[in-house]
This record gives sequence, structure tokens and C-alpha cells, in this order.
Amino acid sequence: MLREQDRRFVEETAGKIRRKMEWVSEKSKDKIPYSTVGGTHDDKSAPIGIAAIDGDGINWWCNGFWGGMLWQMYMETKEQQYADIARVSEEKLDRCFEQFYGLHHDVGFMYLHTAVADYRLTGNEDGRRRGLHAATLLAGRFNPVGRFIRAWNDTPEGTEDRRGWAIIDCMMNIPLLYWASEETGDPRFRQIAMLHADTAMENFIRPDGSVRHIVEFDPDTGERVADYGGQGYEQGSCWTRGQAWGLYGFLLSYCHTHRKEYLDAAKNIAHYFMANIPEDGIIPIDFRQPETPLSSDDTAAAIAACGLIGIAGEVPELEQPLYRNAALKLLYALDEKHCDYSKANDCFLTNCAVAYHSSEHDCNIIYGDYFYMEAIFRLEGNPVSLW
Ligand code: GLY
Repeated sequence: MLREQDRRFVEETAGKIRRKMEWVSEKSKDKIPYSTVGGTHDDKSAPIGIAAIDGDGINWWCNGFWGGMLWQMYMETKEQQYADIARVSEEKLDRCFEQFYGLHHDVGFMYLHTAVADYRLTGNEDGRRRGLHAATLLAGRFNPVGRFIRAWNDTPEGTEDRRGWAIIDCMMNIPLLYWASEETGDPRFRQIAMLHADTAMENFIRPDGSVRHIVEFDPDTGERVADYGGQGYEQGSCWTRGQAWGLYGFLLSYCHTHRKEYLDAAKNIAHYFMANIPEDGIIPIDFRQPETPLSSDDTAAAIAACGLIGIAGEVPELEQPLYRNAALKLLYALDEKHCDYSKANDCFLTNCAVAYHSSEHDCNIIYGDYFYMEAIFRLEGNPVSLW
């Protein structure tokens, strides 16, 4: 149950999101946006030649989130226009299946919120076919000796051997595998998802509940050989978005399997996250980054808020406020300090970051908006999970 002031906040924020989406969905209806240029959505679906085969362009890992925002709006309003625009993304993503080489483990992010959402919400058989195609590709990335799903492909220049790389983000992709087993009755997809989750539980979560971004295994023997700071500050630090991926990802594995270890892992990661939320509720890029520059990452806050709301839905009543109030603290901070509801910007969240050591700080990123919307609509009472 929400406190009265929180209920009002959620209703008002949901209203602001709906009003912005009314015009921005129409304005960007032919695009697959990732960020903005001068306040206007860019378009990852625009043909960009060779880049399209190495994980960029139409293969960009974020290309499902705009569709996800539209399906969230469809659930919220029941208005057909949102389904119609969401299907533009779904159909454009068929180019990825044709090209094949550019695809990676993020087919979960790409297809759960486009094709699979379409099938779940409308029964569209094309969505089911596309979702199962994507799940089959994800299952094909499983390394049976190391019991992990390979994350990225090698760089086109061949500078990095990534055959043994697994990353915490993948915990958010494996719900595609759970869905495929639930849909077909074939347990192989779920078995792969659980083997990967078990490997992640053992190798990514440190004793204090903080999470590693990248772990490298020997691709032939499966032996763990190294871990890397990845998009965080440095090796051994705590990239906040990775922490949020782990938090929400283990919770989702619990929701699909009811294995208590996964809920315990999600809570362990959540407790580290909650203990490190700064006074003002604005989340840094890395919990162990130096004090200056104080760069923030709103995506981490929004993803963690979704995971915390999810945990609150799975624990006994007495424990629920701990998680729900932490989520609300993050959402209040985003709404008050880092959210643009105006027509000057096609995105909502203003201070997202790609990585600690990248120049793309304080920018718009589409999945920040997706998770912000999911969190608010979930608190408002939407019972349907697209994961
Ligand atoms: N999955 C890549 C990222 O979170 O940036």
C-alpha cells in the first residue's frame, strides 16, 4: 500500500508521462530512438552501412526500449495508436535476423519489449515467432563447459578475444529464455537460463553484495580467469547500472523459477544499492568513483527502482516498505531534479551516462525513460510484467 502523498506523486507523475508520450510518440513514430540530438530523438533504425553488422544501427542493443515504452503506454491507456507505433520497431528489427552477424546476447532486451510484448498483450502470432527465433539465438550463445551465456561478439578489428566474456547485464536478457520455455513447454531454454544465473550468482556477486560487471572464463575449460571494471570506474569498483541489472535480473529469475536463492541474491544486491543511495537520491555512475567529478547515472536509479518495487511485491508485508520507500526516494529525486516533461526534449531523464570513462555523460538514454515509466506505472497498479 502506498502512503497518501506517494499515491498522489505516482498519479501526477503518470499523468505527466502520459501527456508527454501523446505528442512524442507521434513525432517519433517512424524512428527507433536511443538518445537525442539538440533535444530531438535520434534514429538507430536509419541505415548506416557497415556499422549495422557490428552491433550498432539496427542491431543496437537498446532498440527494444522505444517499443517497450509504447507497449507500456498501450497497457496504460488501451489506445490502439501505441500498439501501431510499437509494431514499427518490431517489424524493423527483422533486418537483424536477416543480417545475423550483428546480433549479441541483448536479443532479450530487443525482443522482449517488441515482439514478445506484442504477443503477450495482443496474441499476435508474428510476435511469438520472432520471440522464439530470438530465444533460439540467445540459447545458441551458451557455453556448456563454463555454464555461461557469451555476452558480446569480438570487435570487428579483432582486438579483443571475448569468447569467454559474460556480463551482469545478461541477467536481464535471460527472461526471454524463461518465456520461451513457458511458451513451448521445452525446458532447454529455462535450463540454460538457470545454469547461467547460477554461474552469475557464484562469480559476479561479491561478499558485500556489490556486483562485478565483466567476468572472463576460459572458453575451453570454463575456468574463471579475470574480472574487469567494464563500464564502471575500475576493476573492483561498483558500476551502479550493473548493480541495478543484477538487482532486477535476479529478481526476474526468481519470478520465473521461484527458486529462493535468486530472491536472496536480488535482496543482497539491493541492500548494497540501498546502503549507498546518497542523501539527495541521485545515483552516481559508480558507487566507488572519486568524489569529483560527481557524474550521475539516472538509468541506474530507474532500473533499481523497478527491481526494488519488484522485490517489495515478493517479500512479507513487514519488509515491503523498506524496498518500496527506497524506490520512491529514487523516483522523487528523478522527477524533481533530472526529468524534462517539456517539448524542448523528446526524452524524459536528463542525466544518464553510458560509462564512467566515456564522454557521454549527462545525456538522454532511452532505457532510462523506459524504466522510469515502468516503475511509475507499476506503482500506479499495472500488474503486467513485460519481462
Ligand atoms: N548493457 C549495456 C549497458 O548497460 O550499457
